[in-house]
Amino acid sequence: MSPEAPADPSRQPVTDPLNPPLPTADAAYWEAAAASFDEEPDHGLRDPAVRAAWAARLRSWLPSAPAAVLDLGCGTGSLSLLAAEQGHRVTGIDRSARMIERARTKLAGRDAAFHAGDAAEPPVGERRFDVVLVRHVLWALPDPAAALRHWAGLLTPGGRLVLVEGRWGEADPIGLPADELTALVEPLAVRTRVESLAHDPALWGREVADERYVLIADLPRRHTEVVDVHLVVRRGDEEAAAHDPSGPGRAVVLDGHGPTG
Ligand SMILES: C[S@@+](CC[C@H](N)C(=O)[O-])C[C@H]1O[C@@H](n2cnc3c(N)ncnc32)[C@H](O)[C@@H]1O
Repeated sequence: MSPEAPADPSRQPVTDPLNPPLPTADAAYWEAAAASFDEEPDHGLRDPAVRAAWAARLRSWLPSAPAAVLDLGCGTGSLSLLAAEQGHRVTGIDRSARMIERARTKLAGRDAAFHAGDAAEPPVGERRFDVVLVRHVLWALPDPAAALRHWAGLLTPGGRLVLVEGRWGEADPIGLPADELTALVEPLAVRTRVESLAHDPALWGREVADERYVLIADLPRRHTEVVDVHLVVRRGDEEAAAHDPSGPGRAVVLDGHGPTG
């Protein structure tokens, strides 16, 4: 939730163990909010300047198209649409049926599919994605660390998490500070990068003074096991061994009759 959204009394900072978010009340809240959600500049991206600002950022965060992008807590699909316009294949998940309905309408005719489900454990079966994109959702999940671990498992080797989060409000801020999120993500990633989004009013349709950022995390490529391979050369009773530069996985024996395996 960004501060432009109506106040939600059920929402508490995720870092407060005595007041965890209430998932049921939360779901009802977003169902009710769906109809007016796009009225906020950074939600509906209706203002061309705001839309262009998000499009430019998203282009710089996503890999080359076409990538398989999983937009979790996709809402009405505003970022999904930008990603689809940039040539990506999008799957969106949201717990709110009304949000999903609007996302389907918004992306009708595009290479995109939307499903109702829990962002923390999205119903995507065995499918794997190049990017997990999440804007303004992670902070309110009951167990962000568990969600992040699950999302890492949904990525193809070398895949990317794109997490747009913040700590909104000045008097009584709510959200997930960048340093806390970085600490959660770093054990999963080979590289993390935080980009501040607070100083670009074009993204929000106004000046903002609180903490807003994107965290980009690149995950490791699949572990490749390096096997030491030897060339075994037999000359009569003599045996000479050498490393095989042609690559791992083969034991090569030369006995004057060529490789044997
Ligand atoms: C602040 S809105 C953000 C929507 C969208 N990501 C965007 O940036 O425009 C939060 C969205 O997350 C959804 N949401 C919240 N908790 C969820 C959960 N556990 N599983 C799926 N969706 C969730 C809500 O229904 C709502 O659509």
